[in-house]
Amino acid sequence: MNVRLNDETATLNFGERLGRLLRSGDIVLLSGPFGSGKTTLARGIARGLGIERWRGSPSFTLIYEYAGPDATRLVHADLYRVASDTDASQIGLLDAMDERTITIIEWPDAIRTALPLNRIEVELTYRGRARAAHLRARGRLCESSLRELLR
Ligand SMILES: Nc1ncnc2c1ncn2[C@@H]1O[C@H](COP(=O)(O)OP(=O)(O)O)[C@@H](O)[C@H]1O
Ligand SMILES: [Mg+2]
Repeated sequence: MNVRLNDETATLNFGERLGRLLRSGDIVLLSGPFGSGKTTLARGIARGLGIERWRGSPSFTLIYEYAGPDATRLVHADLYRVASDTDASQIGLLDAMDERTITIIEWPDAIRTALPLNRIEVELTYRGRARAAHLRARGRLCESSLRELLR
C-alpha cells in the first residue's frame, strides 16, 4: 500500500488513523532516512491512541513508554544508536514487549528478525518536499485490511 504524505500534517493525520486501528500485540516498524518522517508518524500514531503528551524521539534512552487506551501501553523505540549486528536480546526492547503492549520501532534493523511476524512495516521516502509511505502488513492486520480501513 502506498500513501503520499504532502506535509507534516498529512503524516500526523495518517498516523492518527493508523493508530486508531492498533491493538495490544501490534508492532509498527518505521524505516527511512533521517528526516523522512518516522518520528512524526510515530507521534500521529500516539495521537490515534489518545496520547497527547508526546516526549519526542527516545534517541538516548532507546525507549519511551506511554499509557494507552484500555490498559494498553505504547512503547516507542529508536534503535538508531544500536549497531545492526547487536544481539537483539541485549537491547531490552523484547523484554518490554508484553501482551498489553503496542510497539513502534524506528531504525528496526537490529531487531527485525527477532520480532514476531504480527507487524506493519512502513518505509518512508522523500518525494521532493513531500514524503511517501510504503506499507506492508502481516498478522492481525494484513495489507488488504489496512488498505480497506485507511482508504
Ligand atoms: N510529509 C512530511 N511528513 C513528515 N515530516 C515532514 C513532511 N514534510 C516535511 N517534513 C519535515 O521533515 C522532518 C521529519 O522529521 P522526523 O519526523 O523527526 O523524521 P525522522 O524521525 O525520520 O528522522 C520534520 O522537520 C518535518 O517538519
Ligand atoms: Mg526519528
